[in-house]
Amino acid sequence: MTTADDVETLLRRGWYRLPLTGADPARRRIGELREACAAEFVRLHDLRLLGAAAMTTSGQFGFTADGDESTGPLRELRSHLVLHQSVPPEHPLHGLTPAFYGLPIARPEFEHLAILATDLGELLDRLTLEAFEAVEMALAMPFGRLAGPLAMGERLLRLQWYPPMPPGQPRTHPLDTAYGASGAGIVGLRVVGDGSRAIDLVRASPHRDIGHWTWQLLATDSALRFWDESARAVRPAPAGPWIYGNACEFLEFDVPGVPAPVHWVDADAEATARPRLSVSCFAHVRPTAPSGDITAGHRLYRRLRDLGYVGAGEVDDVAARLSTPGMDDALVAACLAWEKEHAGPPPGFAAGVSRYYITEPSGTASRVTLRQRTGGDFRPR
Ligand SMILES: [Fe+2]
Repeated sequence: MTTADDVETLLRRGWYRLPLTGADPARRRIGELREACAAEFVRLHDLRLLGAAAMTTSGQFGFTADGDESTGPLRELRSHLVLHQSVPPEHPLHGLTPAFYGLPIARPEFEHLAILATDLGELLDRLTLEAFEAVEMALAMPFGRLAGPLAMGERLLRLQWYPPMPPGQPRTHPLDTAYGASGAGIVGLRVVGDGSRAIDLVRASPHRDIGHWTWQLLATDSALRFWDESARAVRPAPAGPWIYGNACEFLEFDVPGVPAPVHWVDADAEATARPRLSVSCFAHVRPTAPSGDITAGHRLYRRLRDLGYVGAGEVDDVAARLSTPGMDDALVAACLAWEKEHAGPPPGFAAGVSRYYITEPSGTASRVTLRQRTGGDFRPR
């Protein structure tokens, strides 16, 4: 349960921390599954099976080896594997595959990880929708105003591998003043590259996440840092029996006043000796959902283009696929029918659109209001 205190913290800083200990079996299961996913990722990495997936396209699908996602002067070195929560071929949203719902990695060596990721995804889907419903309550919004578009949205589990860093001199870099955060420092290493060129390496450079919501599920060190604009201070995010939830750029765009916090990963004292592993889960709204004067999917791809992940042609393709007027309403209505027939959402999703929308006698879909809500407890599937 995301408490009123959690929501207050989220609205002030842009992130909050949830314990995985306690009486809630779902929380404890998230703790077990995050560890199991990380262990399986390491096994596949050590057996050099990740690259064999050969499914990399622009960093959004499959495995990306030795990636550098920094757009500023600081360089990064990291490999990552992205697993999507996919929808079955007969599902109404399947037509948006693979741009938004990915493709299953159809190799037997990935089967175990895919099963773990689906189970974890389902628990996190529930946690995400619960959190957004709590924010709706705190902001006196109608039930489903924020969580409704998130239902059956894109979900990505990303496992990140940071190799040990080469020897170098410690360097502290000022946080980009474009973020209004002068005074904060990012800890990295200056190393010597080809031709004696100095390279400033960090684990992860300062950024705000794309999309609506991120769960920082696991890290093997405590080097994640958030910038707290409300206190104008750096806040460490220690690893331990908890997870962090943070708002992303598009949530801030959709709901002004919910800050998407800048965060980064310092290269701590052990970075030259040890690899680092982290696990994140990203939740996006349905790509067909309106976002300003365009669709959320179009906005996402425009942002990905600006960051160099996709080309202009891919943005145009996505925009064209999402350009049908009333597409989200039509797909919500189709999802309602699908969920009724299958008695719930597909695997990997805790709640479908039927938690937030109803079918009118005319056959069109409409939003459920708070008064129409049937109970206080979250009832998945
Ligand atoms: Fe991030």
